[in-house]
Amino acid sequence: EDKNHQLTEEIKQLKKERRAVILSHVYQRPEVQEVADYVGDSLGLSRQAAGTDAEVIVFCGVHFMAESAAILSPEKTVLLPEINAGCPMADMVTAGDLRAEKQALPGVTVVCYVNTSAEVKAESDIACTSANAVKVVDSLPPDQPVLFIPDRNLGRYVAQQTGRELHLWPGYCNTHDKLTREDILAAKEAHPQALVLAHPECRPEVIALADAVASTTGMLRYARESAAGEFIVGTEAGILHQFHKQCPGKSFYLASNKLICPNMKATTLEKVHRALATLQPRVTVPAEIREKALRSLERMLAIV
Ligand code: 13P
Ligand code: SF4
Repeated sequence: EDKNHQLTEEIKQLKKERRAVILSHVYQRPEVQEVADYVGDSLGLSRQAAGTDAEVIVFCGVHFMAESAAILSPEKTVLLPEINAGCPMADMVTAGDLRAEKQALPGVTVVCYVNTSAEVKAESDIACTSANAVKVVDSLPPDQPVLFIPDRNLGRYVAQQTGRELHLWPGYCNTHDKLTREDILAAKEAHPQALVLAHPECRPEVIALADAVASTTGMLRYARESAAGEFIVGTEAGILHQFHKQCPGKSFYLASNKLICPNMKATTLEKVHRALATLQPRVTVPAEIREKALRSLERMLAIV
């Protein structure tokens, strides 16, 4: 506790000296969320990264998020305190795999979840996050074939919501895909009054049992605005910190203790401190990839 307090104070000081902004995903450790200037979902974080006037962005999240910040704000120094914090789902599609699939589906429009590398975004037509995926797919001409990469669970959910047939990719989130129908049924039995909140990265049979399906920011809004007082949470454990802050007096039960993303937990206060002190490790994107990837992100940001 004392050590966290001291690190937090030093981070705040360094942040001023470096003219830095700290952005944190809601899945980060509570003490990391607390030192951040902005805590949010992937869409909110992209908007912050695009709009900030800070010189340095310290990204407390995973690699693709810092890469998106570097694509949107190339003149800024983007730091990822734990450079090995990746997203296993993003690694389930490479630019080479995608090029081959595009050849097999001539004329296809590629919608890429932001959980992809810059190279994959550069090969895609438009990006989306879990918060705007339905709107992004709805914005495409109805007669156009669409390939949705890499999350098959989000893709299935979007197909259902838009009434469109989508070509899916066999990717998934290692953390959300572990949540089973049985986990939800057991949680409902333990908490019969609670509403079930599920992230669209969950399996279809989990989504079918949910009262609300939403991105992390969407879930927080839902819980704040809902008349209900108890919720079963079908997303990564880090979000509990924000639920407790934003909805004091309400109760939140994690749907399963498997809902922990080790990559999201790899960033610590020590590493944030070191990143600000050394201005390392940096995330950069080569110009020719950046320009193409930027088009996918800008098309997304123009939609909602
Ligand atoms: P959102 O916060 O956009 O819902 O992101 C979920 C996720 O798994 C990010 O890695
Ligand atoms: Fe990737 Fe899932 Fe972790 Fe998000 S929670 S970073 S999608 S593995």
